[in-house]
Amino acid sequence: MWDYSETVMDHYRNPRNVGKLDDADAIGIAGSLTCGDQLKIYLKIKDGIVTDAKFQTFGCGSAVASSSILTEMIIGKTVDEVKKITNKDIADKLGGLPPEKMHCSVMGYEALEDALKNYGHDDMTDLDDLREEPVREKIVCTCFNVTENLIWDAIKQNGLKTVEEITNYTKAGGACGKCKALIQDIIDTYYHKEEKPVQLTAAQKIIRINNIIEKTISPELQKDGGDITLVDIDGNKVMVKLRGKCLGCKNSIHTLKSFVETTLKDTVDKNIEVVEVE
Ligand code: FES
Repeated sequence: MWDYSETVMDHYRNPRNVGKLDDADAIGIAGSLTCGDQLKIYLKIKDGIVTDAKFQTFGCGSAVASSSILTEMIIGKTVDEVKKITNKDIADKLGGLPPEKMHCSVMGYEALEDALKNYGHDDMTDLDDLREEPVREKIVCTCFNVTENLIWDAIKQNGLKTVEEITNYTKAGGACGKCKALIQDIIDTYYHKEEKPVQLTAAQKIIRINNIIEKTISPELQKDGGDITLVDIDGNKVMVKLRGKCLGCKNSIHTLKSFVETTLKDTVDKNIEVVEVE
């Protein structure tokens, strides 16, 4: 028997804002019925403020409680404030969740993120009818349709360090287990654990380079209005294209060597060479 807080029990027994908004301005979906639980969230947004929110869920008591309290947390908030809500905020507001049920708070966060991504779509009714499953990329766990981005966010927001914790928070790895090595790789990449002398396979190296560029290097360059795209990898040669303010910048060589190449050498392989291509 799980040890639930009084707030969880209250929201489970008396869920708030259950249902559907026919004139929703944003709709988000997370989870999948085939994986055991799903949450659909509807938002009404006026002048940048969430004026109403409703949800429909097929899931356990924690999923109902997480969805219910999430709607209360976002009604009356600005879109910018709502964007900052994490799964940890949802779990904290509930007075905590058992570790094995943290994935319910992650599902709430994921549905909210999906809704905000779809905010501004021309025809929400259309979108609601057509989308049975959220469109996702880079699926790490095919049993539960868990994406790399979701695992990355779960690590970042909750300081997760083991595959077991990832399973508790996202369900990834909780069935056939084939994805556990990939999950471990994401954890290692996040914490830059390359100081242990691990010999990466070519495929692992490509995944890691891609991850580091996407999750570490690109966000740093974006802070100054620049960006970077990975074009190709040939052995230790990494070909990239600089974008935005980095393109044509007189310091581009310095950026490539002192930041991009150094970061990849430190985190992936000390023999990496980065070159800019047209
Ligand atoms: S692929 Fe992740 S548990 Fe099966």
